[in-house]
Amino acid sequence: MGLPATGMSAEAIAAALEDFGKRDLPWREGGTFAYVYEGGREVEAIIHQAYMRYLTENALDPTVYPSLLKFEREIVAIARDHLGGDDKVVGNFTTGGTESCMLAVKTARDFARATRGIARPELVLPVTAHACFHKAAQYFDMPLRLVEVDTASWKVSPQAMAAAITPDTAMIVGSACQYAHGVIDPIPELGALALERHVLLHVDGCIGGWILPFLRRLGQTVPAFGFEVPGVTSISMDFHKYGYAAKGASVILHRNKDLRRHQIFTGANWTGYSVINPTMLSSKSGGPLAACWAVLNHLGDAGYMEFARRTLAATQAIAASLRAHPDVELLAEPESCLIAFAGKGFSPFPIVDAMRRRGWFVQPQLGYMGSRANIHLSIDQSTIDVVDRFLPDLDASIAEARGLNMALPEPVKALLGSLTADQFTPQLYGQLMGMGGADGGLPEGTTGINMMLDAMQPEVAARVMTEFFNDLYV
Ligand SMILES: Cc1ncc(COP(=O)(O)O)c(C=O)c1O
Repeated sequence: MGLPATGMSAEAIAAALEDFGKRDLPWREGGTFAYVYEGGREVEAIIHQAYMRYLTENALDPTVYPSLLKFEREIVAIARDHLGGDDKVVGNFTTGGTESCMLAVKTARDFARATRGIARPELVLPVTAHACFHKAAQYFDMPLRLVEVDTASWKVSPQAMAAAITPDTAMIVGSACQYAHGVIDPIPELGALALERHVLLHVDGCIGGWILPFLRRLGQTVPAFGFEVPGVTSISMDFHKYGYAAKGASVILHRNKDLRRHQIFTGANWTGYSVINPTMLSSKSGGPLAACWAVLNHLGDAGYMEFARRTLAATQAIAASLRAHPDVELLAEPESCLIAFAGKGFSPFPIVDAMRRRGWFVQPQLGYMGSRANIHLSIDQSTIDVVDRFLPDLDASIAEARGLNMALPEPVKALLGSLTADQFTPQLYGQLMGMGGADGGLPEGTTGINMMLDAMQPEVAARVMTEFFNDLYV
């Protein structure tokens, strides 16, 4: 397929766009329990308007677009105020949680090199830290030390983190909250550790940073996790999650400019224009910035409090139903608005397909380091309106999964578990996909492939998923 010889009409383009979207997730009206944070039609109109107004402005150069600089300064000021920062705290707007966390890691690496003379700075992470830190370590070629967490609370212990720190550690990481189980690491204790061992501490507040202070004001127990905690040196927080901004909205905050300096790339030794990039991208649309500023100012404190109240009520209703369910169990008591639950003695993966057939999206999570295969739910303010429809469908899907009681035959499971990454070949990949019922396109059902991935060592599962995406995209 090449470029069409003559252009399509505006009407034909609009029709094609609508048509392409028909198989997408039914995210409006709260059908998706991950990926989408739905602020409702009014919020959608606000972000749409602001996004479209600034769509073509280029945030590459704030001297050309003072409007974009103003948006970014105000968003960062709101973020630091929200997270207990003083006016020494600085930050930047990024495209998302991954970019914010990667910038925290890059900053820590270069700070360690510059101020402590460490040749190969390392990162210490709980196994519950988001995969984007692994991505950062891979991109920035930094050794990772992974710390196991307590499998009852799913929180990392400061003692275990202390044991993993070496003279080459640049930074340790804690989450508020972590995605998989939705619990908050002990940030004050990690802060004390960071100060004692002279390392940086990044708090990953990508998913929890914005909503947790509102939940605290609603009476939830939320321990300190912001800049009020001594030892915290950077925080990431996404607005495209519980801030209900358009996608491409997050911030990375540093305790001061001495740290942030190491985040900024400046390229003066080439023949073209001087490139000064505080974040990863160079040219970038002003749309996400304007839309984020717009939704923050549209909802205001009162609007976000109301959203948090609704989200908390929905979370409590869903958690109560799962807690009382005889066939499933919560992996943790929710400390935010995220829930993980597993089947009692049966695979939870068929629940995903059963829910999809009923028009819902719930997210499968593979087992890892004591955290067994489970289903994740990210609950947002829109969910409160659908809880009454969602829970009966979830019950029916759980009953279906329990009835199926799917399990891989033991020899297959043993074989998959014994595979190592260096045995992985394209032929083997083809055989595995055949077994899982996938043909390289988008699969209709996910149960078989999830069960197989769950039986594999993580490195092998990663190879399978890499090949899958390598085939999926042209
Ligand atoms: C705790 C945490 N950190 C980082 C990320 C990555 O964010 P993004 O998908 O915006 O890159 C997520 C995403 O859910 C998250 O929950």
